Amino acid sequence: GALVAAPAVHGATPAPAPTGAGADCTHFPANFMWGAATSSYQIEGAAEIDGRKPSIWDTFARTPGKVHNGDTGDVAIDHYHRFREDVKLMADLGVKHYRFSIAWPRVIPDGRGALNAKGVDFYKRLLDALQEHGIEPAVTLYHWDLPQTLQDEYRGWEDRRIVDDFTAYAEAMGKALGDRVPRWFTLNEVSTFAMIGYGVGYPGHHAPGVELPDRAALHRGIFHAVLAHGRGVQALRATCKADAQIGIAENYHAYAPIIETEEHIAAAHRAFALDEANASIIMPILTGRYNPEWVEKMNGAAPQATDAELKDIGTPIDILGFNCYHGGYAQAADNAAGFDVVPTPRAFPRMNISWLTVTPEAIYWGIRQIADVAGQPDLPIVISENGCADAAEANSAGLVRDIDRIMYLRQYLGYVQRAVREGYSIAGYFPWSLADNFEWAEGYAKRFGMVHVDFETQKRTPKLSYHWFQEVIRQRRVV
Ligand code: NOJ
Repeated sequence: GALVAAPAVHGATPAPAPTGAGADCTHFPANFMWGAATSSYQIEGAAEIDGRKPSIWDTFARTPGKVHNGDTGDVAIDHYHRFREDVKLMADLGVKHYRFSIAWPRVIPDGRGALNAKGVDFYKRLLDALQEHGIEPAVTLYHWDLPQTLQDEYRGWEDRRIVDDFTAYAEAMGKALGDRVPRWFTLNEVSTFAMIGYGVGYPGHHAPGVELPDRAALHRGIFHAVLAHGRGVQALRATCKADAQIGIAENYHAYAPIIETEEHIAAAHRAFALDEANASIIMPILTGRYNPEWVEKMNGAAPQATDAELKDIGTPIDILGFNCYHGGYAQAADNAAGFDVVPTPRAFPRMNISWLTVTPEAIYWGIRQIADVAGQPDLPIVISENGCADAAEANSAGLVRDIDRIMYLRQYLGYVQRAVREGYSIAGYFPWSLADNFEWAEGYAKRFGMVHVDFETQKRTPKLSYHWFQEVIRQRRVV
């Protein structure tokens, strides 16, 4: 009723958008993919239903003191039982794409071995519902909910055995769902689950909350992840439809030049190439090698890889998911490196979560650095996440007025549009997130949704940003 009525912006009908693949100066192309993104542990709940076993996030969240307020994903937003309502919300939003993840411990409860048919059936029901509404799935295999059994048996990503277990999982999902899923991401944000799940000299703030002795140990874990990614791509390729697009969703670190001059752009590009996360994750994935300059800089902590392993890590991908929230600034400098990363001033605008500075240029430079630095100008990129937390509650008229989110998304999307306009290979945009959900160590205190969720009653209420995004999709431009 009144709560979901679109704001009164429909009065003036804008000039029709161009229909060709090439957009004009303001419109997105007709085939641009508009979507929404979520992940299994953050929304599903049903932690012990239909044979699902615990993941490292169940264990971590149930450990006192780890997650804000003692929150867990036991119920989350009960998407497991309410997915039809959520798909309907997507359909009304107007998105034709939906990025979600499969909970590994739901479909293979111990991480390896037999499939749990009831778990797989849930995703089939979800795929059916999406299909009924003409929404294409983009499936992430690993969004951080590692089966606890694999953590207990061999410490998960710290051990080489994870590579084979992940590859077998990818193959099993390709066989079970490959005829119905056109887009796949192997892993989500290696840099986050590695660098925040594990601390060097202190326990990590995310599951599994392990303390590592040194950076070499961290890079061994990251090496297992990128190798698992490459082998996972091969396993999906062998089992999915021939035209399936397969890739990874990574929050690689983008650097904007402080001023757009040739020398500062070169500095930003070097900052990108030598960034510790980029140099160990996205660069080897896209180039099949580790940058020797970075390896030297790491002073023994960089991973050792054989030629065969590098080839697997660099297995060609068809699509790159760029999760973009914020980025850094670099300037040319008269030092050995040739650049300086400029610290973000404390007074920089921030959204309602401590780490989120508003740096919208990052999304443009991140797209461009894949072309200019990683040498992949034609690789289709989708923004697989972009978003912020808000603190809006319904007013007396029932409206959740998150105009801070609209401000944020509008700026970032403007820079995506710039990349489109300049001919970069940018194919889609998936805001994070469809609905408020379990924000990891922040529990339910940080709300990233375009749909507000009352966590007591599970009532969903579209926020103003939902109506804003509806209009963006309808007009195919930043409104
Ligand atoms: C990235 C992660 O992929 C997602 O799970 C998380 O909720 C958002 N960032 C916001 O922090």
